[in-house]
Amino acid sequence: MTQIIRSIHEWKEVLNSRVLSGKTIGFVPTMGALHKGHASLIERSVRENDFTVVSIFVNPTQFNDPKDLQNYPRTFEDDLKLLEDLKVDFLFYPDYADIYNDNFKYKINENELSKILCGKFRPGHFDGVLTVVMKLLNIFRPDKAYFGEKDYQQYLLIDGMCKAFFLDVEIIPCPIVREPEGLALSSRNALLTKEEKIFAQNFPRLLKTKKSCDSIKSELEKIGFKVDYIEEIGNRRFGAVHVGKVRLIENVEI
Ligand code: PAF
Repeated sequence: MTQIIRSIHEWKEVLNSRVLSGKTIGFVPTMGALHKGHASLIERSVRENDFTVVSIFVNPTQFNDPKDLQNYPRTFEDDLKLLEDLKVDFLFYPDYADIYNDNFKYKINENELSKILCGKFRPGHFDGVLTVVMKLLNIFRPDKAYFGEKDYQQYLLIDGMCKAFFLDVEIIPCPIVREPEGLALSSRNALLTKEEKIFAQNFPRLLKTKKSCDSIKSELEKIGFKVDYIEEIGNRRFGAVHVGKVRLIENVEI
């Protein structure tokens, strides 16, 4: 049975009961609408740790667009069933007031990597991500925390934050899980119509080609994508596009 923890106070009671004493904790933070990508992180945590905690918290401070927050898919019953099936020990499902007891007066801010790629198009997004992840890591003090490589910029920023603030946690990046047709799994895919989903397959297909970033951008635009950016950093090519009302991000090794 997955035990649902609704508040930090309830988690403290678990800690006081000492069931976790001397045991390792794996942590998988999520915003719900769980899919096979999340499942791969969770399975790995369950394999590698004595206890696994998954959090579901649609973090308002990381949404620069209120409509995106409003439309974000919420599928609690299905999520809980998946967590039970995967034998997750604890689901943390808190309220805004519990997490933001300071009403977001205090925040974590990074000044370089968070300002490029998605950071350039989503002002404040990474402040929200880093702040909530810092709070969650402080609540659970996990040995290991798992993040998907689909959000590769997010993973790098979180790893950097943990090192900068000497947090005693191992940040584990997990490979992107893709549909058979190539689209990276994402909670936002649920918002695509059937036609949009088929059309979206062109995004990873073109991103993987040997063409330059500029020509990939032009080709995507020519066939009807609105492109935020296609850029290479190190041995990785990053992209963000809009399909209808949905923003998709991808990255591939080159
Ligand atoms: O990747 C996500 O789902 C979110 O950005 C995270 C890490 C759970 C923080 O809200």
